[in-house]
Amino acid sequence: MKGVPNYLVALALTALACSLASAFDPSPLQDFCVSTNSSLDGVFVNGKFCKDPKLVTPNDFFFPGLNIPGSTENQLGLAVTGVGVDQLFGLNTLGISLARVDIAPYGVNPPHTHPRATEIFLVVEGTLLAGFVSSSPDNRLFAKILNPGDLFIFPFGLIHFQINVGKTNAVAFASFSSQNPGAITIANNVFGSNPPINPDVLVKAFQLDKNVVMSLQKKFST
Ligand code: GLV
Ligand code: MN
Repeated sequence: MKGVPNYLVALALTALACSLASAFDPSPLQDFCVSTNSSLDGVFVNGKFCKDPKLVTPNDFFFPGLNIPGSTENQLGLAVTGVGVDQLFGLNTLGISLARVDIAPYGVNPPHTHPRATEIFLVVEGTLLAGFVSSSPDNRLFAKILNPGDLFIFPFGLIHFQINVGKTNAVAFASFSSQNPGAITIANNVFGSNPPINPDVLVKAFQLDKNVVMSLQKKFST
């Protein structure tokens, strides 16, 4: 560049390289989004279509009934009432969502992760033991007993759980840093995949007898 000192050009190029190096893709809003050149079989985008603003009403930002407990009459003693973008369309593009979590005495929210979100978890009733495990190789457990008013964080993508260790129902509200946090419940995901994972993989991975693996696959098959 004529008239511009070389060191300034070098500086500008370095700044450009640095800004490119720290750039990142937008966070995905679903598990995968395989690109296609044809609009004929293109069905999914990273987000949703937006409603004409003139047609937007207060109800697009409103979700009632989170004072009502979900039914915990199930094997886990658990109800998760999620309010993500599929339930509350006004959340689209805003990067947040919420869930009400009810856990009966001795009930469990089993080990799971959210592939697209950090979770911030506020207990409003009951007593829970909650924890998460850091990634390998440390696999460090961070766990706390939580009482009403206590808050715990489950960092992005890490496996976490809660168990009701009190004698009364527990209620918590979980907020997520995604409009569509997703959930991978480890046991269901690994043993209940469709189609099933070859049992030999799970025998080695979990150091289990093949019969145990096959009975777990039967139990979790959907
Ligand atoms: C709690 O961890 C939840 O995701 O509901
Ligand atoms: Mn969670």
